Amino acid sequence: KSPPPDPADLLAWYDLNRRRLPWRAEPGQAPDPYLVWVSEIMLQQTTVKAVGPYFASFLAAFPTVEALAAAPVEEVLRRWAGLGYYARARNLHACARAVTERCGGRFPDTEPGLRELPGIGPYTAAAIAAIAFDRPAAAVDGNVERVVTRLFALEAPLPAAKPAIRALAAGLVPSVRPGDFAQALMDLGATVCTPRAPACALCPWLAPCAARADGTQETFPRKAAK
Ligand code: ADE
Repeated sequence: KSPPPDPADLLAWYDLNRRRLPWRAEPGQAPDPYLVWVSEIMLQQTTVKAVGPYFASFLAAFPTVEALAAAPVEEVLRRWAGLGYYARARNLHACARAVTERCGGRFPDTEPGLRELPGIGPYTAAAIAAIAFDRPAAAVDGNVERVVTRLFALEAPLPAAKPAIRALAAGLVPSVRPGDFAQALMDLGATVCTPRAPACALCPWLAPCAARADGTQETFPRKAAK
């Protein structure tokens, strides 16, 4: 029987292996909720690698939420060109206006508060609450689904398993450093617990991983037959 996964082991791994990303605060520095929000919207349908250059030029054009809110929507759409999914850009602009006009330019610091804003669904609200405000929220994207289903060898297939996965993920979130924990799970899924040929030898959760114990790690997450 494997030991339970210890969040402290993942955090220790993150301290040594964290990715340096343009929207990410350096250790000991406070994250900027505006940067966290823009990056999460951009990352919804675009990879980390592809987002990099767009993020830099978008931030140069709109350095603050007020600057974004004040810009004409046509200019925002023009600066978004190449990222696709223009509804995201329209929502981004509407959200900037809501934060500026309804929230005095400050992002709400809770999941329910964030959910009231245009374009912010359950995943994005959890990600911003955790990363920007260090709230113990479970931000479960595709990478995190893969990590969690392998860790627990969850047999239930996607998409029906999503609520169960969210519950398991929520049970892992520690009360210390929940924001780093959320980013550590994302980094683990992106760099170690990859879809094919995961680097289990490098994994801080090798010992507690139920799928790895069975040698079935690559078969998770299970998917419903089409
Ligand atoms: N994917 C989605 N959000 C991310 C983040 N904040 N860091 C790295 N990868 C991500």
